Amino acid sequence: MENCVIIYQSRTGFTEKYARWIGEELGGESYPLCNVNLVHLDEYDLIIFGGGVRAGKIDGIRFVDKTCRQFPDKKIVIFATGAAPQNDAATVERVRSMNVPKNSGIPFFYLQSGFNYELMQGMDKIIIAIAKVMLGRVKNKDGMAREMLAAMQGSYDHSSRELIEPLISCVKSQ
Ligand SMILES: Cc1cc2nc3c(=O)[nH]c(=O)nc-3n(C[C@H](O)[C@H](O)[C@H](O)COP(=O)(O)O)c2cc1C
Repeated sequence: MENCVIIYQSRTGFTEKYARWIGEELGGESYPLCNVNLVHLDEYDLIIFGGGVRAGKIDGIRFVDKTCRQFPDKKIVIFATGAAPQNDAATVERVRSMNVPKNSGIPFFYLQSGFNYELMQGMDKIIIAIAKVMLGRVKNKDGMAREMLAAMQGSYDHSSRELIEPLISCVKSQ
């Protein structure tokens, strides 16, 4: 297995927690994206990037494009944390297609987290309040939508260390 570094963008702590777990499993350090200038990325064979999902987009994902251009030969892995259930295959696929560069072959992993209203910024709280109203108005909600709406009523944390196993196996087999 190659030496790796984890770079993450986290607003309410979920991605930071997953980055720490991944670092513990792989023996790599994790750094917030705001400190990336202090990291010598060229010293690592593998760069793992993670961020929270916001309306389908992974927070800070531009880092991946920039890094691919700067270090075209480096291996990269992307993970996203989100409130959508782990088994919501359609949402996970949408996040992948909206964020992973086409034909890049970059491995992508989705890790369920939750909502933390206590740490959420004001504007984010407003966006979520609007999303709740809109989701509430959807007629004939499927099970997944009903589950999501119920979950959004308060803070919750469905993150689990077990969910990182596929990512860890992928990295270890490289
Ligand atoms: C404004 C906003 C938009 C969000 N959009 C999505 C989304 O589209 N899909 C999803 O699964 N979770 C969504 N979430 C939940 C976050 O992705 C989830 O809380 C994430 O783990 C936050 O990561 P962080 O705490 O590391 O910033 C959203 C949260 C906020 C505040």
